[in-house]
Amino acid sequence: MTIELERWRGKIALVTGASSGIGRAIAEDFGRLGLKVAVTGRRADALAETAAAIRAAGGEALVLAGDQREAATNRRFFAALVAHWGTVDVLVNNAGTLGGRSLLRDEWEELQSALDLNVRAALICMREAAAAMHGKDPAAIINISSMTGHRVVPGTPAVYAATKHALRILTDGLRSELVQDGQKVKVALLSPGLVDTPWHSKPDGLITQKGAYPYPPLTAADLVSAVRYVLSAPPGVQICDIQLRPSAQPF
Ligand SMILES: NC(=O)c1ccc[n+]([C@@H]2O[C@H](COP(=O)([O-])OP(=O)(O)OC[C@H]3O[C@@H](n4cnc5c(N)ncnc54)[C@H](OP(=O)(O)O)[C@@H]3O)[C@@H](O)[C@H]2O)c1
Repeated sequence: MTIELERWRGKIALVTGASSGIGRAIAEDFGRLGLKVAVTGRRADALAETAAAIRAAGGEALVLAGDQREAATNRRFFAALVAHWGTVDVLVNNAGTLGGRSLLRDEWEELQSALDLNVRAALICMREAAAAMHGKDPAAIINISSMTGHRVVPGTPAVYAATKHALRILTDGLRSELVQDGQKVKVALLSPGLVDTPWHSKPDGLITQKGAYPYPPLTAADLVSAVRYVLSAPPGVQICDIQLRPSAQPF
């Protein structure tokens, strides 16, 4: 392990959406790096599996189960985390939902889900984490956006894309405010294209609908590498914005 990554050993992380896919892979890798990791999601049984993997890898784990579309859930998670381990040094805002495909035809509740989880929950977590990270070095906030947060191609669900655009702007605003406050928190946005995760096996997912990916997708391990890259940057370097496309993704 590099000297830069060693700086994070024993630090306390919160990874949202860690019951599955990208969040689970990042949380498990934090276990390998020797962090204490709080994992969130709605499914306590799936979170218990992530927690077991973190512990098996050498880290410590705390399960926080709840629906982050409820604003109060996010604040409850931070209160529980601080009560358990005293503080937080790393936040990975990863939980996300598609929130429907059509802004005209889908039920309002479906669209509201994406706004509440992808934007409001992420913003509450950023605020809670930034307050806890005041004066800390190292500390990091990493937000998982999407290539749909950078451009919209025909067929992209517009509300989902809008939430990921919002997350991109909020991430840069957070970075700027923290710098102006003299804080040393690393703030990064990771924007993947297509990634092979259970996301695509949901009822409205690509695999469910089409039976196969149109080109070889990224893996969650590719996102893990990007997170390690962000955390590996020397103290004077901010890795702000990483876009990762599968090599064969045409847009
Ligand atoms: N897969 C891709 O192609 C792709 C591409 C670009 C960006 N992304 C982004 O990557 C992130 C992770 O996606 P993934 O592909 O790893 O999907 P995933 O395997 O479906 O994981 C989604 C995670 O979000 C959690 N979550 C969903 N709704 C929640 C809610 N209401 N409250 C709390 N937690 C909730 C899920 O936990 P529970 O089910 O236990 O609640 C799960 O842990 C998302 O932000 C997504 O937008 C994915």
